[in-house]
Parts: sequence; C-alpha cells; structure tokens
Amino acid sequence: MPIHPFRLITQATIQQILSRIDIIDVVGSFVKLKKRGMNYLGLCPFHNEKSPSFTVSPNKEIYKCFGCGKSGNTISFIMEHEKYSYVEALKWLANRYNVEVEETEVSAEVRAQQQVADSLYILNSFAQQYFSRVLFEDEEGQDIGLSYLKERGFSESILQKFQVGYCKESRNAFVQEAVAKQYNRDLLVKSGLAANRNEELVDNYRGRIIFPVHNTTGKVIGFGARIIKKNDKAPKYINTPENEIYIKSRILYGMYFARQVIDKFDECLLVEGYTDVVSLHQAGIENVVASGGTSLTTDQIRLVRKYTNNLTIIYDGDSAGIKAALRGLDMALEEGLNVKLVLIPDKEDPDSYVNKVGADAFREFIATNKKDFILFQLEVALKDAAGDSQKKATVVNQIAETLAKINKAEDFTRQQDYIRQCAQLLNIEENGLNNLVNKFIRERVSKQEAKWQADFTEADNEMPPPLEYDAGSDEGFQLLIKDELQERAVVKALIEFGGKPWDETSKVADHIFNELAENDLFDNSQLLDVINTYKLWYDAGLEPTAKNFFYHENQALSTVVVSLLEFPYEVSEKWRNKFQMPVSSREESYKEEVLATLGYLKLRKIKRMMMENQADLGKPHSADEQLTLLQTHQALKQMEREILLHYGTVIMR
Ligand code: GTP
Ligand code: MN
Repeated sequence: MPIHPFRLITQATIQQILSRIDIIDVVGSFVKLKKRGMNYLGLCPFHNEKSPSFTVSPNKEIYKCFGCGKSGNTISFIMEHEKYSYVEALKWLANRYNVEVEETEVSAEVRAQQQVADSLYILNSFAQQYFSRVLFEDEEGQDIGLSYLKERGFSESILQKFQVGYCKESRNAFVQEAVAKQYNRDLLVKSGLAANRNEELVDNYRGRIIFPVHNTTGKVIGFGARIIKKNDKAPKYINTPENEIYIKSRILYGMYFARQVIDKFDECLLVEGYTDVVSLHQAGIENVVASGGTSLTTDQIRLVRKYTNNLTIIYDGDSAGIKAALRGLDMALEEGLNVKLVLIPDKEDPDSYVNKVGADAFREFIATNKKDFILFQLEVALKDAAGDSQKKATVVNQIAETLAKINKAEDFTRQQDYIRQCAQLLNIEENGLNNLVNKFIRERVSKQEAKWQADFTEADNEMPPPLEYDAGSDEGFQLLIKDELQERAVVKALIEFGGKPWDETSKVADHIFNELAENDLFDNSQLLDVINTYKLWYDAGLEPTAKNFFYHENQALSTVVVSLLEFPYEVSEKWRNKFQMPVSSREESYKEEVLATLGYLKLRKIKRMMMENQADLGKPHSADEQLTLLQTHQALKQMEREILLHYGTVIMR
C-alpha cells in the first residue's frame, strides 16, 4: 500500500513550539486586535465584516468568530489563514519563535518510499514542462494538439494555467529525453509516463493531450492523457497508475486551482471530467473540481469538507457517472455535507454547455436548477418504479434507509423536513415513513438491544403491566434525543477530571471507561473519537488535558474539544428540572458531576430503546414476538427505575 510522504517532527520540538506560542502575537500579526476585558477583538479574517466579532482568548488560547463561527487554536489559525498543512504550520511557528526543528530518523523503509516520492515529483515536473513545451513550440504539438484544443475553444492562457501539454505520436520521443537526463528506467515505468514493451521503454501517452494532476500544494502528482484521434481499440483516457504520490481515492482534479475560491464562495462544484474543469475556469467559474466519473470516496469528501460543507454536483443527465456519483453520497450525508445536484440537459456536458450558452447563462442555469440530492434520488427512483407497487415498496425502504443516515443531533429538523417532503412525493403517510426511518435507526443499535433483551427477558416471567408510557409525546424524551448534551457532558468531565482520584485505587478516567465499556452509549462519532484518543494516551501512561487535544494533528478532534470548553453547562437546566437529578457543579463536587453525567447518558439510551420498542409494539406481530416486546419494555422500565434510584433521585413523573 502506498504511504503518503511525510516527515516526522520530534515530540520535543513540538513541545518547544507549543510552550512558546502566544496566540495574541500570532493572530495579531494578521489581524488588528484590540483588548476588550479578558479577550481581544478584531475584524474576522475569514469573512467580510464591518464591525468586529472575531474574538481571541489568550487564557484559553483559542479564537472564535461570532459572525461566521470559525474557531480554533493558534495552529489551526495558521493552517486556515495560510492554507498550510499541520507540519507546515508547525514549521512556520518554529521559524517565528526561533525553535530549531528536529526531525526524527524515519525507518529505512519509509525513507526509501520518501525518496521514491521525491523522485516522482521531480520526474513529473520535468515531464509536465516537456509536454507543455511540445504543445506550444513543437510543430506536431501545434498542428495536432494545440489546434485541436483551440478548436474546442480553449484559450492559450487557460491551457498555460492548467499546464496542459501534448505527447507526440512518436514511439519514444519523451523517453529518450528523460533517459538523456538520467531519469531512472524503473521510475519512468512507476510514474506511468513510460511502458515496458519487451524490455524496451516506450512513451505511454503517445498522440495524447496531457492534463497534469496537481496536489493541493500545486505539485504535479500524475497525468490524465486524452486521445485525440478516435480509436475504438484505445481507451479515451489513460491515467497515472497508483504509486507513492498518485493515490486516486484522495484526488480531486483541479483542487489546487479551486480551493481558495471554494472557500470564498462556500460551495464546491463537482463535475466529471478534466475538460469540464478547465472550461468552467475559462468561463470564470473557478470553484470546481472533477472526480473522474467514479463514486466519491470518504477521503475525497473530507478534502471538500476542508473548504466547505456545500457540494453541488453538475453532471450530464445520461452519464453513467451520475449513478457512480450518487453511490458515494450516502457517505457524504453521514459526513454532514449538504449535497445538491444539477443535471445538464440535452446530451451536453458542463464543458460543451458553458461553451454553448456562455458563463452568465450557465451560472443562472445552475442556480435555478439546483436540486436537493435526496429528493432528486427519490424522483428518479419513483419514475423508474412507475406503476410497479413492488418496486415502489423497495423505493420507500431505500429512501428511509438514506434518511436514517442523517443522524447528527443538529440535523434533527432537517431529517423531519425530509420525511415530510419524501412522504408527499411518495404519496404515503408521514407517520408511516417516520416509523420506517426509526426502524433503520434502530437497526444500528440492534446488536446491543439483542444482548439486553437476552439478559432481561430471561429473568422476568411475569406478565407485564399495562403500558402507560407514551414515549413519543414525552417532552423529556424529546429533550433526550434532540441534543447531545449528555454525550458532551461526559466527554467534558473526562477531560477535566479524568486524572482526579475516583477511589483509593482508581481515577475518574478508569471509572468512566469502565462504565462506557459495557454499553454502546455514544452516537456522535467525533465525541467517541475524543474518548478513544484520551484512552490511547491514558493507557500509555499520560494524563491528557484539553491542551493535548488543542494541538492534536487531527483538527476535527481539536475543534470538538474547543467547542466542549465553550460548552456552558455541565448538564442543561431544563434537564435538571425535568428529571430532578442531583445538582452538581464543577471542581468541588466533580465525582457527583461524573456520576450525574453518566447517569443521564444511560437514561437517554434506555428512553430511546423504550421508544423504539414502543414503535415496534404498534405494528402487527406474532403472539411470541408481542410477548418479547412487552417483556423488553418491562425490563427497560425497571432499568430506568434503577438508574434513577442509583443516582439518588425521585422516580420520574
Ligand atoms: P472530453 O470528451 O474531451 O470533453 O473529455 P471529458 O473529460 O468530458 O470525458 P468524459 O465526459 O468522456 O469522461 C469524464 C471523465 O471520466 C474523464 O475526464 C476521465 O477522468 C474519465 N474517463 C473517461 N474515459 C475514460 C477512460 O477511457 N479511461 C479512464 N481511466 N478514465 C476515463
Ligand atoms: Mn466532455
């Protein structure tokens, strides 16, 4: 498996840098800051504003903009502002504070890979310059390559910007130049620039237009080579094979040229092909990248999410690529991306369409034809199923499964909106669809549920009492499922009190891990990440604090912890009033707080299971199934009582 090239800065250097960081000094060198009480205030560098809402807290070592919501620490500020990687940001800070950067010796294997990677960059850069020179200066390049591209409407300046080139039809014109320049033969094959034919190296991209593919720092990592003359035997495009630097699943063509514009407009347009990207840029539409017509990978989605949460897919209607693109989208949903879709009409693609109607009409078309991807998916499936009730049932199931994937707490209303709209389109009862979505949500926790059922139904053979609990209308329950307060409170308690004693032999962290180990209590995967990372450090003998998370390489993790510290209450007031759990607070009574937060979390789990069980009871079942469900209900009720007792409070009203 190819490994990304990387350098390891020593832990000692990182500690040195961290100890010298002064957030006011660093942010202050980009933003004019004024002192306001404990904090500093300035105009936000991440969005346009007239009055300052960008706040820096020297105590917490964080910044937050109350206008656009951006927040983070010193390192993420440099990363965001300068578009640096983590390592680049560290180096920038090291330079500023005169810290000498020590890099650890990496293993021979890693070093060898790094050397291959470095050589590939150099070779690719050489090849790119060679192909560009051929396109613009060589006779064949001009007559065949350039005239073809001009005929298609590409200007010389846009071709130069994207470093487009041409590979001559000759057997080995490029290989000869490369070998003369001492480029290694194995490397030439690995790069995909040459092919080995019976021990003879030949040019791999003969007679093709060359589109260099750049990484986000602008280095050439590979090529897409398009055939010019129609030929049924040869593929239309040849791409660089996977190697140390060309890792297809992480690449979006054009990202280097688009990223700042994507950031600025807070939207990323996604098209299929190289030519679509170049044409749209030429038309002044620059927030655009291409996927190469395959389904989106998680890495690609994360790459987009570095710059925006809004993805607009622009495909031609009959393209096979559209199906591929849609396949990747459930994942995008889980990652919290807002996905819109625009179909280009009449057998055009974005390239031909923008050439036909012009930039303004194109923009207008996109703006007015943007469709929500979930609703679009449903419309397509419905058309396909027209008149076939079996097929329609499948469609209903599929859409429910998709909707169940919107499980982020803050997206609760979004999920409800979708359920309403989809029910309308399907012409079915909203309630029915709601139940079905719940069923899919439930399936995620079903493993756990099965275990619980087994544990509790055995012990209890009496007939259950009549059901008096209407979970759906329970206000307390709605509070429970709509927010993540309980999860956040536990993570916060862990970070703040983890190292404090729990009893004579164990610490708070031990207690929390014990409690969490048995049950699958967390929904939010990011919060779970924080816990797992804490555990990793803790098991290695460290006692992590918030600061360790602040400077974690994974910015998502760091952001979550920052947001936790801003999190105003241990547990919400509403909650306390509703359930009358012990009121505990902060430092003096940390044990009580830990107990209470864990208690709330368990309570939520149980209430949730009760509701699911309840929903299930409403459907037709065999007598046996019915009995199991009722027994489950009773067991859950009992557990609820026990928890409330255990945490020293009254039985719920
Ligand atoms: P033009 O037809 O020149 O406008 O190119 P295009 O980029 O619009 O090509 P098309 O719409 O046919 O395909 C979209 C994308 O799919 C291309 O840009 C390639 O990334 C990819 N693709 C198309 N054909 C092939 C192929 O034969 N092999 C490979 N590896 N990729 C291809
Ligand atoms: Mn095309």
